[in-house]
Amino acid sequence: MTSSMTTPTTSHDHILILDFGSQVTQLIARRVRESGVYCEIWPFNTATAEKIKDYNPRGLILSGGPCSVTAPDSPRAPEGVFEMGLPILGICYGQQTMCEQMGGKVEGSDHKEFGRAYVEITKPCALFDGVWGTGKKEMVWMSHGDRVTKLPEGFEIVGISEGAPCAAVANENKKMYGVQFHPEVVHTPHGAALIKNFTHKICGCSGDWTMNAFRQEAIEKIKKQVGDKRVICGLSGGVDSSVTAVLIHEAIGDQLTCIYVDTGMMRAGESEQVVSLFKDHYNIKLIHEDASDLFLGKLAGVTDPEQKRKIIGGLFIEVFEDCAKRIGGAEFLAQGTLYPDVIESVSFIGGPSVTIKSHHNVGGLPERMNMGLVEPMRELFKDEVRALGRELGMNEDFIRRHPFPGPGLAIRIPGEITAEKLEILRNADKVYIEEIKNAGLYDVIWQAFAVLLPVKTVGVMGDDRTYDHVCALRAVTSTDGMTADYYHYDHEFLGRVANRIINEVRGINRVVYDITSKPPGTIEWE
Ligand code: XMP
Repeated sequence: MTSSMTTPTTSHDHILILDFGSQVTQLIARRVRESGVYCEIWPFNTATAEKIKDYNPRGLILSGGPCSVTAPDSPRAPEGVFEMGLPILGICYGQQTMCEQMGGKVEGSDHKEFGRAYVEITKPCALFDGVWGTGKKEMVWMSHGDRVTKLPEGFEIVGISEGAPCAAVANENKKMYGVQFHPEVVHTPHGAALIKNFTHKICGCSGDWTMNAFRQEAIEKIKKQVGDKRVICGLSGGVDSSVTAVLIHEAIGDQLTCIYVDTGMMRAGESEQVVSLFKDHYNIKLIHEDASDLFLGKLAGVTDPEQKRKIIGGLFIEVFEDCAKRIGGAEFLAQGTLYPDVIESVSFIGGPSVTIKSHHNVGGLPERMNMGLVEPMRELFKDEVRALGRELGMNEDFIRRHPFPGPGLAIRIPGEITAEKLEILRNADKVYIEEIKNAGLYDVIWQAFAVLLPVKTVGVMGDDRTYDHVCALRAVTSTDGMTADYYHYDHEFLGRVANRIINEVRGINRVVYDITSKPPGTIEWE
């Protein structure tokens, strides 16, 4: 992020979002981009009017945030920002600080509004144009205690709610708008249309930021950066690294070599799919390194989840480096880094936060290898990566795949990992995912998988006693993996899956379903 600050990374119309620490700031960016307009998020305290001027956005959006405008030293938009002549949309905290900084007043209130609320439209304005009519009551999502009680000069109220006399305000002359509700969340059903009104009608953006345009520009950038040098790219089997590889291949062809390290912790048929897709279908140079025995050997006897992650992460780097040496002469390393990894977050809480899981499987790889980085997707969100994959003609099944963790099945076998347990889990997971797909549920579930528990229970099959493993099924809905709800299957479906697993998978005689949400649970069991 810092590297791109102040210099537009795009020749397209763009919007700047100043982040005041809201949990949902990234959703604002996604809505803006869905309207075909490029945007970036900057922490409020790193922006100055000067930097914003250099960045030259068509408009500014001020996000919500956890602070109270009435508290001493609470965040403010940079000085001079309201005098730049830029169209501005303030959302929640953003509305409050805009009004306060421009001479209005914000007060705490006993009438807090959290969740669903209704805004009555009292006047037409450009923000509502073609979306909300005067006199109508519209459903929105609110999350506020404070509210604007006096407007700055030139502003007028355009919408009211029970808890917010200034639920929506406008200064049409200055093209400044403020809303107390959150148009960026899906619970405000017309929110995306309001944001589109802001980017298109108010800021005058043309909406030319499409995946096709991105693809062409990214290819040119890669060519320029790499020249006639060579690039290596690690494939994981996941969407990000695959789309990165296909895009780079389109730009530089045989100057790219991919490395696929088979850790032995992959699902049934996965390694074969990766090899056939890249080698046979795309004709991309690929080193397929089967290191499964090595990984399994090093993991023998290890039961601690973090220890498993460390071993896998460390070994992965060693094997990858070895492969890279064999290729020799590559100057660049390609990575599928996405925008959410790059956005600097605004933190109001001092001190380090607790590490629940050390998700960085291959952290440290670029530093160790001392290579230039090619990260063509640094500006994209996950759903945009999928759209790019489609644009590149990649198979829909592949693009819509559920996320899969770097350490793979190793963290879905609590306790010691053995070849036998891996085989049992692969077979169970295959049946489970097959049934999910047959039921047409794969795309509504965010992530689903089987877990092999380190518990054996007694069962009876035919006339025989069995003493086998328990398999836990997991399925969650989520938008980003940060929070998740368990998926509410009907019992018939669960019964069918359990029946098939017990009958078809040797080594399992009992199936349970995990109904824990995140928090307090995590999605994976380890
Ligand atoms: P948790 O279990 O933390 O998972 O709720 C959230 C998301 O992250 C994935 N996950 C990992 N991904 N390395 C990864 O690359 C890891 O060590 C790891 N642990 C969890 C998990 O599959 C889910 O999508």
